[in-house]
Amino acid sequence: MEIMINGTRVAPDQAMISVLDHGFLYGDMVYEVVKAADGVFFALAPHLQRLRYSAGMIDLPIPWSDTFLREEMEAMNALLGVRHTYLRLVVTRGQGPLSLEPGACGEMNRILYGKEHVPLKAAYYTEGVGVWISRPITKDKGNIKSSVYRNNVQAIKQARSEGFHEAVLLDRMDMIAECTTSNIFWVKGDVLYTPALNVGILKGVTRQLVIHLAAGMQLALREGFFPLEALLGADEVFLTSTTRDIMPVSRLGEQIYPVGPVTRDLMARFGELGEADIDWEDA
Ligand code: PDD
Repeated sequence: MEIMINGTRVAPDQAMISVLDHGFLYGDMVYEVVKAADGVFFALAPHLQRLRYSAGMIDLPIPWSDTFLREEMEAMNALLGVRHTYLRLVVTRGQGPLSLEPGACGEMNRILYGKEHVPLKAAYYTEGVGVWISRPITKDKGNIKSSVYRNNVQAIKQARSEGFHEAVLLDRMDMIAECTTSNIFWVKGDVLYTPALNVGILKGVTRQLVIHLAAGMQLALREGFFPLEALLGADEVFLTSTTRDIMPVSRLGEQIYPVGPVTRDLMARFGELGEADIDWEDA
């Protein structure tokens, strides 16, 4: 792993942030995860766009240009020196008094983590993965990629201890939200379903790309508030995230699903996406 704090490379065991940073004290920070292959980022523009959106939603204006951030991330790729990289960019409020009020904080901190992105097991894609049902959880409002993942941490811990790959999070009304680090889709008949953004989920970059692909396939899409039963009665289920791309789900709780034709078609089309094919406006 490599770490850069405010542009300076620091040994991971020496990388320190003040205990008075409001990111640490109050979770007052935002982040993005981006991957690259052979130095080429996948969908970097929408990730940086979402970083600015998330930061704007918590009134944390990002002072650095996209070019500046891209160059720093390219430097990180060079440092890592491996084909597939996983970069996490965190922006914190900065150091301040022991009080929620962010006004008195000093300079924000920019932390860039880099590691090798080890592709997930091929069998996950051919056979699908298991998803555990976690209920109920309280979601952050506003689709912000904030670093507050306490509920998600509990859910994935439970899921993994039960032998599942992911956990789907339901809201207090038992409506389907998203998974701990992915969005969820399902197919019923000839319609593709996914929870609406105003359920309080992350506007996943991969989710947006799937929506874009579905439009090109004339596949009807319904976004909305859906109860767990809708998912349990689905023909096919899959997850989307930067680290997974599109990953079929073979089991949700006790329910079993095939890796169906719509999922396979979407996976194939996703695999062919180049940066130039991506509709940045939608993403
Ligand atoms: N997480 N929902 C949540 C809660 C997430 O944390 C993520 C991604 C997604 C999918 O978003 P995207 O397609 O933009 O990666 C949905 C990243 C990968 C992570 O924290 O590792």
